[in-house]
Amino acid sequence: MKRQLKNLFASKQQKESAAAELSSDKIPQHVAIIMDGNGRWAKSHGLPRIAGHHSGMKTIKRITKAADRLGVKVLTLYAFSTENWKRPKEEVEFLMKLPQEFLSIELEELHENNVQVRMMGYKEDLPEHTLRAVEAAEERTKHNTGMVLNFALNYGSRKEMLNAFKEMAAAVQTGELQPDQITEELYEQHLLTRTLPDPDLLIRTSGELRISNFMMWQLAYSELWFTDVFWPAFTEEHFHEAIRGYQQRARRFGGL
Ligand code: FPP
Repeated sequence: MKRQLKNLFASKQQKESAAAELSSDKIPQHVAIIMDGNGRWAKSHGLPRIAGHHSGMKTIKRITKAADRLGVKVLTLYAFSTENWKRPKEEVEFLMKLPQEFLSIELEELHENNVQVRMMGYKEDLPEHTLRAVEAAEERTKHNTGMVLNFALNYGSRKEMLNAFKEMAAAVQTGELQPDQITEELYEQHLLTRTLPDPDLLIRTSGELRISNFMMWQLAYSELWFTDVFWPAFTEEHFHEAIRGYQQRARRFGGL
């Protein structure tokens, strides 16, 4: 409680000094986040689940700015998984409206800040209105050279990997590819992340300790950071705490 109050009243100066404690030469290039706990946050405030998702959308703005300020190059946010269609229809419909709402409010500011908005996931299953909003944002920001804000929307790692296997198997079948030519690098060219570096840091909010079908190949050597804080309550200070934790890790990538 004390900590929460402290965060609530943290001044701009305090926030800047928290950021200043971070070493600027060890900022993760790619941060991926599993934004979890919207429903439980809503319940704890006596609100319907969708209010949690709406509040979670506001956290996206906060953390996008924080990441950009620190010099993060790619911020990937797990907004909707290939399994999330199993949720009640009303909740899915609400979630599918959020990209549109978020982008109608934030796109211009993102664009002014040179942010590239991208979507990673299976576009074919999205409702027309969601797809239109996302594609318009991608188109508007495609020449920007700043941070990539990558929304994992209708994304699932197993599907991504299976598709990659199928594409490579088809190439083997036609004789274009020999099985021994299949390397990590070639396989990665078939993943949805083909233009992105692997995440250096994965953050999952809400106290769950799972990967939930998120970037399973790409996370092989990522540092993992779990926090009990629900996504709607996740602040810039919490984000800095995760980055600070990351900076204290020794990354060996299997070496010594
Ligand atoms: C997980 O919490 C969260 C989601 C499945 C949705 C995340 C979506 C947003 C934060 C907003 C998306 C907005 C844009 C702009 C793409 P949960 O519902 O599983 O929470 P619970 O585990 O507490 O029930």
